[in-house]
Amino acid sequence: MKQSNEFKNRVVYQIYPSSFCDSNNDGWGDINGITSKLDYLKDLGIGIIWLSPVYVSPMDDMGYDIADYKNINPRFGTMEDFDNLLKEAEKRDIKIVMDLVINHTSTEHKWFKEAIKGPESEYFDYYYIKEGKGKKHKKLPNNWQSCFTGDAWKKVDSLPGYYYMHLFCDTQADLNYHNEKVIEEVKEILKFWLDKGVYGFRCDVINNIWKSSLKNDFPLMIYNRGLKYYANQDGMFKTLTRFRTEVLDNYDCFLVGETGVLNKEVGNRFLNERCLDMFFEFDHIYADKSKLIPVFKRKFDARRLVKPIFKWQKDVPWIANYLENHDQLRSVNRYGNTGKYYKESAKLLSLFLLTLKGTPFIYQGEEIGTLNNPNASLKNCKDIAAITTTDTFSKLTKLNKEKSFKFINETINRDHARTPMQWSNDVNGGFNSGTETWINVNEGYKNINVANELSDEKSILSFYKKLIKFRNESDVLKKGDFKEEFVSKYIVSYFRSFEDKTYQIILNFSDKKHQFNEVLNIKQVFANYDEEINLKEIPPYFAGIFEVK
Ligand code: GLC
Ligand code: CA
Repeated sequence: MKQSNEFKNRVVYQIYPSSFCDSNNDGWGDINGITSKLDYLKDLGIGIIWLSPVYVSPMDDMGYDIADYKNINPRFGTMEDFDNLLKEAEKRDIKIVMDLVINHTSTEHKWFKEAIKGPESEYFDYYYIKEGKGKKHKKLPNNWQSCFTGDAWKKVDSLPGYYYMHLFCDTQADLNYHNEKVIEEVKEILKFWLDKGVYGFRCDVINNIWKSSLKNDFPLMIYNRGLKYYANQDGMFKTLTRFRTEVLDNYDCFLVGETGVLNKEVGNRFLNERCLDMFFEFDHIYADKSKLIPVFKRKFDARRLVKPIFKWQKDVPWIANYLENHDQLRSVNRYGNTGKYYKESAKLLSLFLLTLKGTPFIYQGEEIGTLNNPNASLKNCKDIAAITTTDTFSKLTKLNKEKSFKFINETINRDHARTPMQWSNDVNGGFNSGTETWINVNEGYKNINVANELSDEKSILSFYKKLIKFRNESDVLKKGDFKEEFVSKYIVSYFRSFEDKTYQIILNFSDKKHQFNEVLNIKQVFANYDEEINLKEIPPYFAGIFEVK
């Protein structure tokens, strides 16, 4: 089938269903809640929605632990609700992309329940269920670590001496792609949703699906142990190419992959072998934390944010750009200014995101400048990764759990992105009509909310709207080449050009005025300051698009 490549023209908005809008006031966001906000998204200029998982799940990792790929979690509604969402979205020319979580299933999935009946089960080889080593098989099959810290293996209670692999939490069992039947199952899942009319998938931790060996990794690695045998392996590329030729080519759709540990060569391989249409890189997220031990914060430096992003702008023809998602802390806290220049800095970040080459991904709440939850505590923490990492950190450092959580909370506590969407200053921020919510609301809603910002022409939300409109109508921003001019600690400048038109983008990542030396003949066409600025004195957190004459 002919591909429309519409994903190159549209802005994507990620919805975290549990926290977007609770239509029946049971404390959980739901599909009908999403449908009720489609006009809001249309008005914002969104062309594609990426829905975080809505499938049947025990929700140990908030739906990234799927127990049934072809049914909707009753907490979110019914399949009729989903079909209705698709229909209503289509009416507004908004496409829906699903989250495809196929590295692992929940241990509640029927495949897993059957598999652990024993080696005779036809599902046994769907997973990595291996005998332990040593005397009485008491030692784990290898020394790999889970990405959420701790061993990557757990005992199968019903099968003495056996363990199953989980690269994430211990109820997320890794699927075995060496088994042809698993590949066939995934193809069926893809067809099921594509036949309904979804426009593609965001592929969860997709570069980890193929384990090329189960050898021990270097034992002193406390983080990512095992990675060299499961990240970006040949079998993964081959499997994804098969999904493309055997299923996806029959539909107008696209894949965006969540991929870590990339270099230029690996990144291009994903695109050239048609495994993915674009991917999320993970290099820029260490702009404010240690790459070696990410629970340690470090002072933000714009160069560490911008340089990796620019590297990818140059290294691949197309990429998925993002500053936030459901796994990241809020971007204004990390890269912007929460004080005097709060609004300017939030607008700067949006202008940066929306003027890069590639498809921009906005995460719910980012468009209103939502900040981290100032009242997050270990007691109220819902994020399984933050909880397990706090435990491990506390054991290693001998700090008590509360003190340990302080580190985690500043760097990797994913709850900050998962508090209910701040719609208004009504009770619970208008997320529902007052029932206790599954996760604490962020009290910041009293000041930062959609209703306030909709009625304020100078708000962050109004800026996003204008900017998205500007982008949607600009071939330079949608299709243009990228060229770096320079990146310093404060000032960043780059060009986008298409045919005979060129834009220069200039950003000031600091709360001080800075001078810009190389002044070309340029005209300010879009900026986060009302007045035309003097390039000899670029104001704090200024962000602007200039037309080069
Ligand atoms: C991805 C998801 C994250 C999840 C993990 C395991 O990183 O974005 O939320 O916990 O995969 O599925
Ligand atoms: Ca609900």
